[in-house]
Amino acid sequence: MVEPGQTKFQIDLRRHMREQGEDRDLTRLICEIAEASKYIVNSIRTGDLGVAGTSNLYGEQQLALDVLSDRILRKRLFHSGVVANIASEEIEEVISVDVESNRRFSVAYDPLDGSSLVDVNLAVGTIVSIFEGEDLFRSGRNQVAAMYILYGPRSTLVYSTGNGVHEFAMNALMEYTLVRENITLNSSAKIYSPGGQRNQYSPGTEAFVRDLEIRGAKLRYSGGFVPDINQVLMKGQGVFLYPHLNNAPDGKLRLLFELNPMAYLIEQAGGAASTGKESIMDLIPESMDCRAPVFIGSKEDIARAEMLVAQLG
Ligand code: AHG
Ligand code: MN
Ligand code: MN
Repeated sequence: MVEPGQTKFQIDLRRHMREQGEDRDLTRLICEIAEASKYIVNSIRTGDLGVAGTSNLYGEQQLALDVLSDRILRKRLFHSGVVANIASEEIEEVISVDVESNRRFSVAYDPLDGSSLVDVNLAVGTIVSIFEGEDLFRSGRNQVAAMYILYGPRSTLVYSTGNGVHEFAMNALMEYTLVRENITLNSSAKIYSPGGQRNQYSPGTEAFVRDLEIRGAKLRYSGGFVPDINQVLMKGQGVFLYPHLNNAPDGKLRLLFELNPMAYLIEQAGGAASTGKESIMDLIPESMDCRAPVFIGSKEDIARAEMLVAQLG
């Protein structure tokens, strides 16, 4: 229902979820994450770009912004009243919320993906995966929602709870208002994002990329998973790959914090997400830090990648 004179696209996030008939606790959770992103936007714009002097579970040096973004998001989740367990790319263990909560959901997130890009002023993002209940070590098929916030020239938020993929943009009042509803991938890839060193590609991956180039697909790779996936969604086509490499058979990206949520969103938009052999969302995470190779985007291109990997390795 749209007020007289108000266009459908001045609807804010909470109202959109209410009008979609979303679960109230899930709406509360997603809106809390949206609130947290406003503080992360400010910390990126003004924050200290130095290192935090600590390292994460991958042994990677944490930037002050990684730690700060993690703290902002974790605090909001802790006090949301609906979260049971939290897994963060920046924290070694799963954290159980020990304050008042109905423990409806558990959340895995990458608080600031691509954080090393901030000091060269490229776009970065927050990625969030949401499960019902306490267990985060189930296949991505069990997610009930996923979302990301993209800190680019504009701050935009994309979410899905299984009823389509919807995009919001932050306005001058730092409210997220609806921009696009029911985003879908509707054609084969005309852009591609080839992650990882090309000379480490397997013959199947090499053939896949060569075919894309022969077809005239254009290379678009920012080094940030969130802007690169966002570009595929907003263009309605494309493929991102960070494949199995000769020197890194599991690729680079993390299943819990990066691949599951993006696979959920891309599948919701009618695309596909595969390791090259099986669907990303069929993988069972054995540990917090497990990684997987990924081909994600337009369905027909992902099927072609799987066929070439099966044929050529
Ligand atoms: P993070 O900053 O959380 O470690 O993730 C960075 C990831 C992802 O954003 C991107 O797709 C990939 O790293 C880029 O890797 P390369 O620098 O090897 O291309
Ligand atoms: Mn990341
Ligand atoms: Mn990160």
